[in-house]
Amino acid sequence: MNKSLLILTGHSKGLGRAILDTYLQKDEFEILAISRTKLGLDNPNLTEISIDFGELDVLENELSGLFPSGDFEEIILINNAGWIGEIKPVGSLQVKKMRTQVNVNLLTPIYMTNAFVSAYRDSKARKIICNISSGAASKPVEGWSGYCSTKAAIAMFTKVAAKENNDSLFRFFSVAPGIVDTQMQEEIRHTDELDFPQVERFKSYKENGDLSTPELVAAKISYLLGHENEFQDVIQDVRNFDLP
Ligand SMILES: NC(=O)c1ccc[n+]([C@@H]2O[C@H](COP(=O)([O-])OP(=O)(O)OC[C@H]3O[C@@H](n4cnc5c(N)ncnc54)[C@H](OP(=O)(O)O)[C@@H]3O)[C@@H](O)[C@H]2O)c1
Repeated sequence: MNKSLLILTGHSKGLGRAILDTYLQKDEFEILAISRTKLGLDNPNLTEISIDFGELDVLENELSGLFPSGDFEEIILINNAGWIGEIKPVGSLQVKKMRTQVNVNLLTPIYMTNAFVSAYRDSKARKIICNISSGAASKPVEGWSGYCSTKAAIAMFTKVAAKENNDSLFRFFSVAPGIVDTQMQEEIRHTDELDFPQVERFKSYKENGDLSTPELVAAKISYLLGHENEFQDVIQDVRNFDLP
């Protein structure tokens, strides 16, 4: 059986954990998973690395040795790790938290994408980069200035990389996962209305069962990446298609 490789960030919980579980069921995939927390799962196809993406020097030092070589049929990078950040209006944000958020949401996926393209440029494998963005990339939300702007920036970075690699074996996607029932949503619901005027709306999403399960969204992302020829645009939203 030909081997494939998945490199996944933010695998320890939420959407990333569901993506991990989806790909663990595909025997052909070797998986390299990076978060701060290691799950300690006993699976020969899984290698876990602990890195805090908030501290960029650590990632910078590890980056050159991070990407396994091998005769892979397909290589996928999913930059999923993300942080909603400090939910407060501009003028009340703490410098250190702003830096952490930019490091996690923007500089980490930029570093990873750049190093991935460099590492696998000459590989004959099918290569896909999937950066997890958000609907908030194209919609200003009060209290989420850092989140909206880092997600907008990673979407544009992905579009530029796609344009540069138009004739190559690389495909690039910036994917909005919809509103997903994870710890991030829990954090959002626990915000003060003064800092986040839409908090009641987000509470009602949970109460009304409007949140997607991480499992459904992971299955859709896996479908998208497995049938990339059906998806021509770089910018994708999983809410725009159903599983067959
Ligand atoms: N949930 C939603 O409704 C929603 C909507 C739109 C977009 N998204 C995006 O979807 C992605 C997944 O979100 P989620 O809802 O699953 O969030 P989550 O439940 O909070 O999980 C975030 C993941 O990112 C990792 N991570 C966070 N900070 C990190 C750091 N400093 N260093 C290394 N890893 C870090 C976490 O691992 P550790 O804590 O172990 O480090 C965890 O595995 C994010 O990019 C998010 O922006 C989510």
